[in-house]
Amino acid sequence: MKDRHLFLILLYFVNNGYAARWTETQANEWYEQQPWFIGTNFIPSTAINSLEMWQSETFDIETISRELSWAASLNMNLMRVYLHHLLWQQNADDFASRIDKFLQISSQNNIQIIFVLFDECHTPNPKLGLQPIPIPGVHNSGWVRDPGQEMLLDQTKWSVLQQYTADIITRFQNDTRIALWDLYNEPECSQQVPIVLPLLKLVYAAAISANPVQPLTVAPASSLSEELAQYEISISDVITFHNYAPLADTMRMVEQLKTFNRPLICTEYLARTAGSTIFTHIPYFYSNNIGSINWGLVSGKTQTIYPWFSPEGAPTPLIWFHDILHANGTPFSVYEVQFLKDLKPKRQNEIMLKY
Ligand SMILES: *[C@@H]1O[C@H](CO)[C@@H](O)[C@H](O)[C@H]1NC(C)=O
Repeated sequence: MKDRHLFLILLYFVNNGYAARWTETQANEWYEQQPWFIGTNFIPSTAINSLEMWQSETFDIETISRELSWAASLNMNLMRVYLHHLLWQQNADDFASRIDKFLQISSQNNIQIIFVLFDECHTPNPKLGLQPIPIPGVHNSGWVRDPGQEMLLDQTKWSVLQQYTADIITRFQNDTRIALWDLYNEPECSQQVPIVLPLLKLVYAAAISANPVQPLTVAPASSLSEELAQYEISISDVITFHNYAPLADTMRMVEQLKTFNRPLICTEYLARTAGSTIFTHIPYFYSNNIGSINWGLVSGKTQTIYPWFSPEGAPTPLIWFHDILHANGTPFSVYEVQFLKDLKPKRQNEIMLKY
């Protein structure tokens, strides 16, 4: 009886020893083993959203291979990619095998992946099957949230989201082709934080119980004084953040985030006409060992070369908002592409020489 008691106590400590947030030391030691991270948010140009990217009918290996090889030719080593729970619900094994195929292609290009599980941005009613065609001129006209609004408002359905989180992370829990798990993109995006925050807490509990070798993160995208941002930071092994403002603003955000003594990766920036550019931000990120992930590689069905809130029928912008390459591989800006090609790859602890 006594022995069994002791065993249970030991089991409790062992489990909790694993299923705990990484210490600062653990996080920083992990980061020192990584290259300086540079890359983009990635969706193939032939997909309008994560459902079209991953569904078996439209999973476009040819385009994914071509576009990831372009990323590699620009020195990129980390791409951020959105998943969707509906694909797992439809057929978990098939979805996992397509993820594995994708990871084969990315790793052949020496690119690691940040997978994003949930997302509060853009259209609220995701449905499997044929996806809409883009509305001309409109930024991300067919991007889908995960979960959809109906599911978000029905807490009795949230256990599916927890099961998805635990299952997908467990399946890839030892897979170093994946660099990080980003649990929830911009929970504030749909402007209903009081509903989303409790879901995020359940998602985090499910993620940490899956005991992955990869760090977990959720990126603050707004004021760090908000309850949501403080929670996001408190559960992030490695701190990621979004900032589409000019460099002075990004630097102010970074100065606050540096006080947490954890690795920093900017997982969304680049809004050229808002003053967030390759030339302003990359030298700063590079010299401060901050990972640099901009929005968009190839201009395609997401139409993110158009600014946020561009009206239907808007003309092609002279200066692209996001993205780096045309669908045929030619650059929006030859200067940007040359700049990326000239970046000297480095490890985190190397002294920066170039700037
Ligand atoms: C991950 O590694 C651990 C420890 O070696 C092992 O117990 C577990 O089954 C592995 N997980 C998967 C999904 O292969």
